[in-house]
Amino acid sequence: MGLKDLCAGSMLIGAAVTPGLLQNERYAEIVKNEFSSITCENVMKPESIMDFDATVKSGQTDRVMFDFSEADKVLSFARDNGIKVRAHTLIWHNQTPRWFFTEDWSKAEDAPFVSREKLLKRMENFIKDEMNYFNGAYPGLIYCWDVLNEFIEPDNNHPHGCRVRKNNWFSILGEDEPRYAFTFARRYAAPGQKLFYNDYNEYEQPKRDFILSTLRPLLKDGLVDGMGLQSHLLPDYPGMDEYRRAISDYAAEGLSLQITELDIKSLSESEADDELLARRYREVFEAAIGGGVESLTLWGVTDAQSWLSKPDRPAYPLLFDRAGKEKKAYYAVREILSK
Ligand code: XIL
Repeated sequence: MGLKDLCAGSMLIGAAVTPGLLQNERYAEIVKNEFSSITCENVMKPESIMDFDATVKSGQTDRVMFDFSEADKVLSFARDNGIKVRAHTLIWHNQTPRWFFTEDWSKAEDAPFVSREKLLKRMENFIKDEMNYFNGAYPGLIYCWDVLNEFIEPDNNHPHGCRVRKNNWFSILGEDEPRYAFTFARRYAAPGQKLFYNDYNEYEQPKRDFILSTLRPLLKDGLVDGMGLQSHLLPDYPGMDEYRRAISDYAAEGLSLQITELDIKSLSESEADDELLARRYREVFEAAIGGGVESLTLWGVTDAQSWLSKPDRPAYPLLFDRAGKEKKAYYAVREILSK
């Protein structure tokens, strides 16, 4: 029995994967045995699917062209193995090419941006074409979309907490960006697919309040369904009270909750730190189950592929070690899910 079987009926459990990871037999086995949900770590992001040459060649100025071939490797694996997909991510300031925002799709560094009107057409077509492609090719596979990622950044000192720096979407659309994103996504989503806002440091104040005041009017109009708690945690931060409080505050608004990118940045594999990691995982899973979280995704499968592991500084943030062997944290999670 895998983790997915232990929480079947109450919660989906997932991992972020790359096409490369699925080529490795041992790692692919882990994914098949343990997880009921998959997120593409990178290959569904705008920069991975937007095809510059095809776009220029098309001669169209309000519609981006795509290359879904890398994403297809992951989604067909999911389909063939009965695993559901969290689609990540549509609108984001990061990993979205600047040429998407410029007149004539120019790659020149100082190329002027298109008008607001033009960008809205590009935004609508982008969301529509991407959703139609995946929902047509893989009916019933995607259960939710991250529609808007990391829109709130209190450090940027905007009165409503908007991320104003290095954010091409915001510099053209301003505070209307979330409403447009969710309006278009709702228009083209398949019936039953949930629409999520996703962010990190989601448990911190004042970030929590800014997120909630952004989502409330959208929730009232039926445009957003849920809050994605990225949950990139440290071994000793945030405190569990703060984390649980965030979960209950979001839930109290009527938002569905998913933990979308869980990892715990442990930088040592000493016995003590391994033990600490296990304890921390146990607490996070308890908080998730107690808080009604409907899907929990780990940001990677083994420590080897974690985005936190750098060549000169390995990290140990996940449930499986570099050899794909279960760590103490894995058994701690099993124990919680078996209760
Ligand atoms: C990260 C990936 O893990 C890396 O491989 C990539 O180089 C950068 O993006 N928040 C998100 C994720 O929403 O998409 C990010 O993923 C991690 C932070």
